[in-house]
Amino acid sequence: MMSQFPVKKKKQQQRLRLPGPPAPLAHPVRFPKVVLCLVEKRMGATRKAFLTTLARQRGFCVEDANSDRVTHVVSEGNSGDEVVEWLLKNGSRGIDVLGGCPALLNTSWFTESMSAGRPAEIEPRHRLQVAAHAETLEARCQVPVYACQRRTLLAHRNQTLTEVLQTMAEEAHFCGSEARSLAFSRAASVLKSLPWTVRRVQELRSLPCLGEHSRRIIQEVLEDGASAEVERVKHSERYQAMKVFTKIFGVGVKTASRWYQEGLRTLADLQAHRAKLSKEQEFGLLHYDDLNTPVERSDAEAISQVVRDAVGQCLPGASVTLAGGFRRGKQTGHDVDLLLTHPTEGQEVGLLKKVISWLDKQGFLLYHSSRRNTFQAFEDPELWSRSSASGMDHFERCLSIFRLRLPGGVQISAGAQKPGGAVTGSGVSSFWKAVRVDLVVTPFSQFPFALLGWTGSKNFERDLRRYSKHEKKMALNNHVLYHLEQKIFLTAASEEEIFQHLDLEYIPPEERNS
Ligand code: CTP
Ligand code: MN
Ligand code: MN
Repeated sequence: MMSQFPVKKKKQQQRLRLPGPPAPLAHPVRFPKVVLCLVEKRMGATRKAFLTTLARQRGFCVEDANSDRVTHVVSEGNSGDEVVEWLLKNGSRGIDVLGGCPALLNTSWFTESMSAGRPAEIEPRHRLQVAAHAETLEARCQVPVYACQRRTLLAHRNQTLTEVLQTMAEEAHFCGSEARSLAFSRAASVLKSLPWTVRRVQELRSLPCLGEHSRRIIQEVLEDGASAEVERVKHSERYQAMKVFTKIFGVGVKTASRWYQEGLRTLADLQAHRAKLSKEQEFGLLHYDDLNTPVERSDAEAISQVVRDAVGQCLPGASVTLAGGFRRGKQTGHDVDLLLTHPTEGQEVGLLKKVISWLDKQGFLLYHSSRRNTFQAFEDPELWSRSSASGMDHFERCLSIFRLRLPGGVQISAGAQKPGGAVTGSGVSSFWKAVRVDLVVTPFSQFPFALLGWTGSKNFERDLRRYSKHEKKMALNNHVLYHLEQKIFLTAASEEEIFQHLDLEYIPPEERNS
């Protein structure tokens, strides 16, 4: 008895002097590709804790159900269906029952693995049967086909993958392959709506809009961290030149392609070659740096206020609404989209001319070009229902470049010291930057359709129209909603009412970032 005392004391002293290393380090991971999850249901917390320690001592990783690294799920006394239920309830996202990912196992596999000191080969007798739920499960993880049926927030969990797919979509667009471009855009849009981060290609199995090419690229990125094909595109001379050229206001794929064929590659080439430019393109080139600097939300708000002042002067009671990406909650954008209307229909006629002239006199406009209203739909619904697919609308509209004064001589970029970086009468430098602004005038009865159409995103709009046509036999555009079989116009006083006509759940602007 006496001899035991000093031993105990020594142990205690050791413990005091040397606090043990944290548990995970005590047992190095020997099987990094195997990640266990133990189902607490029926097993109980105590036994689960015991088995967890046992597994870790033998070099296995053990994580919770909500970890998307889990490869092997071990349960005691539950049916396969119960395990699936339990996993979903405990935050698991990426279950692919049909693909056996993760594997759903009974404790016999666990016991054999522990006694062997390494993961046992999975045999059919180890597996739990999932009987009834395969279909309902797929349905649970089901992502709707149309973007207008999905809620897509600005921040999402698959940024790397969506960027890569969007690069491919852009490249296809530069080649004039619109169908291929659309396929990549749709694939990216689906990934933006997922509530989990994709880590294994098997997780894509039940997702819509993911073609073979998109899957291949995703797999490369997941496995190697990058896709050779995408890297090749990004570094190709053509893609880079096309990108530089299409970033000029007023330059589309056609013009950019032609310049590339003529051997031009850079903006300097363009200037040296004295390429023939439209008025719009000339201004685009002149303000290239500014127009490719993101527009901040504060800039968008300042411009909205200026336009509101102008509108207030020209037509009291008229309203100005910020649409586009800023309405969807974006903090930056490539332009400012503003809708003008007046609650008394007809009053809006002639407004744009007055507003532009007011803004111009005050020195707010560097460039502007207007187009009159060309909407005659009510006379011939068939005509526009055919043309509505193009996405163009017929509102009176002004494309402009604003000269936005920046507060108190703040110099934000080299662009702030350009031709007009003038010195005011007081001798104080006044800095400004060029910002693209779209002004659109809508008759009041068409305003909800215009607002819905000009809020975007482009993917959301495209699918709204496609859904209307194919699922509801209706033609939707920025002006009206028309029932193609009943041959009637469906009026709406708000965006909500348009969604109701289409039997769609209302999706607020912040969730239209598809
Ligand atoms: N739009 C339209 N008709 C046009 C031009 C644009 O209906 N002639 C719609 C687009 O479909 C889009 C919205 O207006 O849904 C805004 O377009 P745009 O400014 O190009 O895109 P944003 O989403 O605002 O992106 P950013 O923030 O880069 O400006
Ligand atoms: Mn915009
Ligand atoms: Mn725009």
